[in-house]
Amino acid sequence: MFNFDYYNPTRILFGEGRIKDIDAQIPADAKVLITYGGGSAKRFGTLDEVKHALGARQYIEFGGIEPNPQYDTLMKAVSIAKEEKIDFLLAVGGGSVIDGTKFIAAARYFEGDAWDSWTKNVPLKQTLPIGCVVTLPATGSETNGTAVISRSDLNAKLSHKHPLLFPRFALLDPKKSYTLPEKQIANGVVDAFVHVTEQYLTYPVYGKVQDRYAEGLMLTLIEEGPKALADRQNYDVRASIMWSATQALNGLIGLGVPQDWATHRMGYYFTVYHGLDHAQTLAVILPSVLEVQRKNKRLKLLQYADRVWGLTDGNEDERINSAISLTKRFFENMGIMTSLRAYGIPESSIDDAINYLKRFNLFPLGEHKDITEIEARRILSLSY
Ligand code: NZQ
Ligand code: ZN
Repeated sequence: MFNFDYYNPTRILFGEGRIKDIDAQIPADAKVLITYGGGSAKRFGTLDEVKHALGARQYIEFGGIEPNPQYDTLMKAVSIAKEEKIDFLLAVGGGSVIDGTKFIAAARYFEGDAWDSWTKNVPLKQTLPIGCVVTLPATGSETNGTAVISRSDLNAKLSHKHPLLFPRFALLDPKKSYTLPEKQIANGVVDAFVHVTEQYLTYPVYGKVQDRYAEGLMLTLIEEGPKALADRQNYDVRASIMWSATQALNGLIGLGVPQDWATHRMGYYFTVYHGLDHAQTLAVILPSVLEVQRKNKRLKLLQYADRVWGLTDGNEDERINSAISLTKRFFENMGIMTSLRAYGIPESSIDDAINYLKRFNLFPLGEHKDITEIEARRILSLSY
């Protein structure tokens, strides 16, 4: 196992009917900016509950944060935060609202051009405190220090990580996910699953605890994901999914072990240029990454085949083939298509995707940093 530092300062308030408890987590004299997305939080009453919980505090609402949160929209909130002397940000939504709110928290204190500061990783000295009410279990953003921000005029989607971006608290009420459309339930399960594989399907370093923990999360998502689609109001199922998604990317399973993230990085282009949802890009790319990297990932693929899919018959290659096919089938059973062609994306996009990766200096990729343009092209061709 590699050496590691573990830091996660986010308080988790988990369970049904707990929105009122955010009252105790925000200073009584704080002026709050409530951020939300395109309207689901308003439509389904979560926003009203949040406002009620804030009691006598002053607050301002900022809605309209898009899926794949856009820089221009967020900069409007940054101006409000400055002008109105906001001292607490409260995000109500999925990963996009939470990530966007992290950007607002940081950009409030940027000097000079905010995009430059963000993309050049200017060290953050100060951020506004953030709390979040999660309505879509998927990204794990609620208990990590990462934010992924998009900028359409530059055709860019970039991720940024900093300890000051951890929310102070995350309110996880599984019932808030009941109103999700099928596609977003599936997206959430697949995104969380791939967060686990990015930190697990690499090479063994005797990370016994991390491995068993990761396998537990994957087994839970495989079991509970389809149940959430079949039975839309099952509290236990939603609670298991919500808790899995949070833990898939709260840092714990990635401690002291190698990490991949090639699937995630290769996916961004398809969201920016072809409008695929984040999880759709992962479902398309992960099986091909596993195939092309099967030699490097061999030992972990065999462990995955055995412990996650119960595959013990056949020779090693057969077991790995079956594990990759079952992974793909799981995504498809969740209703997510697993080829670029199925989304109507032209084959020429493979060249563009490679150029995108070059433009943002993302090569080489993978846990061994051995995915160059050549391997990436093989992966994307296989994903076609
Ligand atoms: O905007 P509204 O109207 O709220 O609707 C949203 C949105 O259209 C809807 N939704 C959310 N909760 C709902 C609901 N609809 C009905 N009922 C509810 N309870 O769902 C749609 C998608 O929301 P979004 O927040 O975009 O989805 P998700 O949570 O999957 O977040 C995706 C973003 O997170 C980034 C992705 O790249 C993408 O930009 N990621 C962030 C990560 C992180 N911070 O650690 C890691 C991930 O790998 C990922 O990259
Ligand atoms: Zn993801």
